[in-house]
Amino acid sequence: MPTITFIDKAGTEKVVEAELGLSILEIAHRNHIPLEGACEGSLACSTCHVIVDEKDYAKLPAASDAEEDMLDLAFGLTQTSRLGCQLIMSKNYDGMRLRLPSSTRNMRVDNR
Ligand code: FES
Repeated sequence: MPTITFIDKAGTEKVVEAELGLSILEIAHRNHIPLEGACEGSLACSTCHVIVDEKDYAKLPAASDAEEDMLDLAFGLTQTSRLGCQLIMSKNYDGMRLRLPSSTRNMRVDNR
């Protein structure tokens, strides 16, 4: 099975098996990675924000306009930021490295 590596806020790396067809968010949750996913993948938050390693980012399909709009609200946005719920694992992403941002911003909560 392909694997991906999550790097947490402290810089600790965890390699996990990544089932094809699952989102990065689902893979994180199955492996107890603290990636939030407050809206459960409905593109209504940015708490599933991940920072993709530069060499892996080039392999990903372009983000949709809706994903770009939510990313604009993400805390600590980078050039290689994506939303974990929108990335579906494929064989091409075997070995992909993803960093968790130092913080997240949940607009649904922050705006109350
Ligand atoms: Fe909310 Fe990904 S879980 S946008």
